Amino acid sequence: MSSLPAVTADAIRIVPSILAADPTDLACQVREVQKAGADWIQVDVMDGHFVPNLTFGPHCVAALKKVTPLPLDVHLMIESPGAFLPAFAKAGASLLTVHWEACPEPQGILREIRKLGISCGLAIRPETPVERLLPYLPELDLALVMTVDPGFSGQRFKEQTLPKIRRLREEIGRLRLPCYLQVDGGVDLNTVSLVVEAGADVLVAGSAIFGRSSPARALRELREAAGVGGGMWRS
Ligand code: DX5
Repeated sequence: MSSLPAVTADAIRIVPSILAADPTDLACQVREVQKAGADWIQVDVMDGHFVPNLTFGPHCVAALKKVTPLPLDVHLMIESPGAFLPAFAKAGASLLTVHWEACPEPQGILREIRKLGISCGLAIRPETPVERLLPYLPELDLALVMTVDPGFSGQRFKEQTLPKIRRLREEIGRLRLPCYLQVDGGVDLNTVSLVVEAGADVLVAGSAIFGRSSPARALRELREAAGVGGGMWRS
């Protein structure tokens, strides 16, 4: 089993989401963003219940594992995620992120993910208060603040989520935790400096990368824009 690389204070990680990639050309597009410097690849798993969309299963993660050595960040936007942990672990996930809204007492499932030798993440929707995440921070490898309503790529960034990112960054710093702070949804050249200034260090981007004629160029431009917006917390 594999897990994520250790957190480093000075790095911003760019994570392309295959939800926005061309499914008829997935392997090629993943290789392209890998060559352009993507840090991880995100697989958005949706079950049509927790969110009104249906996407990928463990077989897709297993196929991607053959295409790229990059860590596979599996975002479980599903009800009862516990039932699927072994299958995604076996398929090659490096990170399994579950939603607090799907498991409001997540201690057990977070421990189960760690026992599988995989990094664990906990996500909250835009409308969920950040206080729901805070008690579990010491047990997390990654905290995810959704900056759109989960379910589809290409949505508009919700600026009202910025205070949640700031509050999380404060807590991670105060407790000196080795925990990534990930944002996902509507991250593009117009919003990347907002989220980095607020304290995000892992940026998921789908349409901003795969919605462009050159995903490689789009990724490089996004990283450059992220570097410019380096938040005070990074010093
Ligand atoms: C929403 C998905 C999307 C996707 C990124 O459920 O999680 O946020 O990863 O899509 P963009 O970057 O196009 O918003």
